[in-house]
Order: sequence, then structure tokens, then C-alpha cells
Amino acid sequence: MPNPQLNSNGELRHLLALNGLPKDILTYILDTASSFVSVSDREVKKVPLMRGKSVFNLFFENSTRTRTTFEIAAKRLSADVINLNIASSSTSKGESLLDTVDNLTAMSADMFVVRHAQSGAPFLIARHLNENGLDHIHVVNAGDGRHAHPTQGLLDMYTIRHYKKDFSNLTVAIVGDVLHSRVARSDIHALKTLGVPEIRVIGPTTLLAPAMKDMGIRMFNDMNEGLKGADVIIMLRVQNERINGALLPSAQEFFKSYGLTPERLALAKPDAIVMHPGPMNRGVEIDSAVADGDQAVILSQVTYGIAVRMAVMSILAGN
Ligand code: CP
Repeated sequence: MPNPQLNSNGELRHLLALNGLPKDILTYILDTASSFVSVSDREVKKVPLMRGKSVFNLFFENSTRTRTTFEIAAKRLSADVINLNIASSSTSKGESLLDTVDNLTAMSADMFVVRHAQSGAPFLIARHLNENGLDHIHVVNAGDGRHAHPTQGLLDMYTIRHYKKDFSNLTVAIVGDVLHSRVARSDIHALKTLGVPEIRVIGPTTLLAPAMKDMGIRMFNDMNEGLKGADVIIMLRVQNERINGALLPSAQEFFKSYGLTPERLALAKPDAIVMHPGPMNRGVEIDSAVADGDQAVILSQVTYGIAVRMAVMSILAGN
């Protein structure tokens, strides 16, 4: 089956997931982002690559980092940005997702940036646009359910490449609620495509996905074992709704077994970096001494997110 995010020439038409995207496209996005990092350092940060284009941010789920950095990125590309206020939109009166999209299309939308609690919602919009011949309108998935968060995956790869230079000799450990994490899924697909030889997931059995074994990923229940010799540690947010339920006993118990403390971090390589997509739960999955420590690159991830989102949007817009 053809990949719905690529056109017949194999070029990126929508960004829906990192699964199935070839290495040269991922590398091209990261290289393009590098050029935008230097733009961010200039006094005049704007470039005219999307002048006259309208980007609609449709966030049906809460967000701080993703929504804001998409808005900054679009503005730096000189696009007009419209943030639909979902709570006060006609969605709250029962309008369907595709009717909302059709109405925004009638307002000359050029790009939809979509976050939705339902896995597949951005795919649904992309397919609807494709079927209606609206080839000039692009969809970017800003996180759908447990499925994918491709721009987070890309900014994580950008951050790893920045600090470690080469993917081909790395051990990357992803820790916590892997089962429910769209970030973990996008990271794992990108790490595999970019040639990382050792990917580990660490967590209680209830929060790991058994199918990952078939992808060649090593699974650890013992965090001390899993962190040994790691170059990169990606901590995941523990979703509060899982705590005190069947999957996790309590926040304190989780921290005791899987919280990243300075003592545990010392088991990784001395120059290991610590990443977290945010929002962080301090004292649940990560100790403040680590989150604010020298090895944490968590705020750099946020900053690189702007350049990576500029790269994705400008490439989709045909630059
Ligand atoms: N990393 C991430 O998706 O954060 P937000 O939920 O704040 O966008």
C-alpha cells in the first residue's frame, strides 16, 4: 500500500508518522532544521518562505510546547497563524472533525497542524483532503492518541545528533510508560531508521509493549541493568491516570523503581544526555537534581523544536 504521507514522487506531502519514512527524508528534515537554528540566533528571525500561507493550529488536546513552538515556527516562516479555540468552536456544538476541516478549507487554509486524543485523526483529515483533490493543503500530526508524535520524534533526533554527532554507535534507553507513549513509538521508529544499533526500553511489564521485542528492542524491568552504558536516556511522562490503577501502584513506588536519580544516572556513560519530552513529573519519573543537572538537555529539546517544525512546514510548503 502506498505511504499516504508521500506523493507519487516519494516527496513529503503530509507528516503523519515517522514509521515508513525513509532515512533520506529524516536526514533532510534534520539538515534543513540546522539551517533554521542559525536563523533563530539572528536579530531578525523571520524568513519569507511561507509568506501568504495560512497555518491552522487545531489542538483538540492540551499542549504547551508543541502548540507554542508550531506557532513560533510558522510566524518565523512569515505564515499567518490561526489558533482555533476548540473549547469555543463549533466542535463543542457537535460539528464533526471533517466538517470543521471543510469549513476551514473554505477559508483558504494551506496547512493543518492537528493534535487529537483519537489515534488516526490526522490520517483521517489527510485522506479526506487527498480524496477531494486538495493537494495543496498539508497536514502535520502534532500528536494523536497513543499512536505518533512525529515532530517530537524529529526534534529528539535533532537533539541526539547535536550532542552525539553519529547515530551508528549509540545505546539509547527509553524509560517509563512506553506502552501508552506516542513519543516512544515515534522515537523508536526514527532511531531504527537512522541506524541506532541498541535501543532499550525500561519499565514495569505492565507498561512495556511485548511486540517491541520483535523489532529488535531490548526490554528491561530492572532500571539499573537497563541504564548501564547508555549514551542517551529518554524519560517518559508517567500519565497520572495510570497511577493507583491496575498498571501502577503509586507515584512513590514508581519513583523507587524507575525514577531517574543522580545515583542511577551514574550507571550510564559519564557523558550520557538526559531527555524528556515534557511535561515532567518531578519526583515521579525524574529527580529534580537530574532534571536541572548538567546532563539534562530537556530545554534544548524545546528550543530545537522550533527549528525542526520550521523545517517540516517549509518542506511541506514546497521549499
Ligand atoms: N512534548 C509535548 O508534546 O509537550 P506538550 O504536550 O506540551 O505539547
